[in-house]
Amino acid sequence: MKVPFVDLKGQYLRLKPEIDAVFEDIFERAAFICGKYVSAFEKEYARAQKVNFFVGLSSGTDAVHLMLWASGIGAGDEVIVPVNTFIATAEGISLCGATPVFVDNDPETYTIDVRQIEDRITRKTAAILPVHLYGQPADMDPILDLASRHELAVF
Ligand SMILES: Cc1ncc(COP(=O)(O)O)c(C=O)c1O
Repeated sequence: MKVPFVDLKGQYLRLKPEIDAVFEDIFERAAFICGKYVSAFEKEYARAQKVNFFVGLSSGTDAVHLMLWASGIGAGDEVIVPVNTFIATAEGISLCGATPVFVDNDPETYTIDVRQIEDRITRKTAAILPVHLYGQPADMDPILDLASRHELAVF
């Protein structure tokens, strides 16, 4: 039996009528930027997350970049990231003028190896950006503990 790595077609087919109707309406309106669906998504997502505001962006790369930039991460800062991630993680840091510092992954979970983080912390370290990948969350309790002891932000 072949199990596909990602089955986007299967996900689409389950929601096809709903998705097709929305896309048809978007094309009819030629509302490719913002528009009522983006607005509705922002409102619904904010409600679901119990936050006052939510802003839809064009990509995950922009989301990483914007959240770091808005938090004041910039030139001279180092941000700790796992080696096993998509390039956007390091790219968002570089786009702010900061430096990504890589930590190897845990061979059991393939997420950042918490035991190796402390050795990479320097006077320049401003934050840790753990990544949850393939449905496998990073080991957040010890990461948050470490960050609090070193007064680091966690994104
Ligand atoms: C960990 C991670 N961060 C960010 C992104 C953002 O990607 P994009 O800019 O292509 O939306 C991805 C995409 O796969 C990702 O895996």
